[in-house]
Amino acid sequence: MIDQSSRNTTPGCGRAYPDGYGVVEPVADYRPWDVDSEFQAIYREIREHTMVDIYRLWILWVLARRAPAGAVLEVGSWRGGSGAVLARVAGDRRAARANPGAAGTAPRAGEPKQPRVYLADTFAGVVKAGERDSYYRGGEHANTSPEHVRSLLDELDLGWVELLVGIFPDDTGPRVEDERFALCHIDVDVYQSAWDTFWWVWPRLVPGGIAVFDDYGFYGCEGVTACVEEIMARLPGVPVIPNLSGQAVIVKTEG
Ligand SMILES: C[S@@+](CC[C@H](N)C(=O)[O-])C[C@H]1O[C@@H](n2cnc3c(N)ncnc32)[C@H](O)[C@@H]1O
Repeated sequence: MIDQSSRNTTPGCGRAYPDGYGVVEPVADYRPWDVDSEFQAIYREIREHTMVDIYRLWILWVLARRAPAGAVLEVGSWRGGSGAVLARVAGDRRAARANPGAAGTAPRAGEPKQPRVYLADTFAGVVKAGERDSYYRGGEHANTSPEHVRSLLDELDLGWVELLVGIFPDDTGPRVEDERFALCHIDVDVYQSAWDTFWWVWPRLVPGGIAVFDDYGFYGCEGVTACVEEIMARLPGVPVIPNLSGQAVIVKTEG
């Protein structure tokens, strides 16, 4: 059994917690990720290339499998681990379309012939840190490169994934502005990048499309928590699911 429960990406975990923060200890004990051999297979390949723990990766895996047809975007790919999980699901769905009835994910109406997955990163670290961000100053997580991600994707036969190198959406948004997205994973650590990415992608999400924020439930990423709470206030009636793994999931129920 692979268990990454001790891995914690919270940057501020050495500090004393203020009110409203503390270790979260859910009491559930259903662990489907332990017995899903397809998930475990990709997890084994990418676990050394991600800061995202197995719980959040599992949520991404499930959401990507259930998302409507459309392109997939991840902003904040770092060494490519979580992006490779999303790409593996997109590839499986494409294969299911070509071969209905085969094992794997059920095809959806309108499933594209070629899966379209975009992984965006500055590859120069975090940008747009500001006063809402308590920990990040800019430049963190620059210890990656497009070559590192490309080599991981090639090893996993996911070479068709497109990398968007630069600040998203400022530099690289125009390259994909005509896409329609089924799922967007926003893992950028700070308020302004999360805000800019969400409002860029929101009008481009198909009905049923999903935006998943990493960082929402982590001490040190209060900017992203604030970003999601401001979005909730601006979008009353839109389903927002904050989960106990630290993500916030927003579903676009209407076009
Ligand atoms: C915590 S890391 C992402 C972790 C990754 N998802 C994984 O699987 O480990 C955050 C990344 O976001 C990137 N980033 C932050 N703001 C960005 C922006 N506006 N455009 C592109 N990349 C950004 C940083 O360069 C950094 O690599």
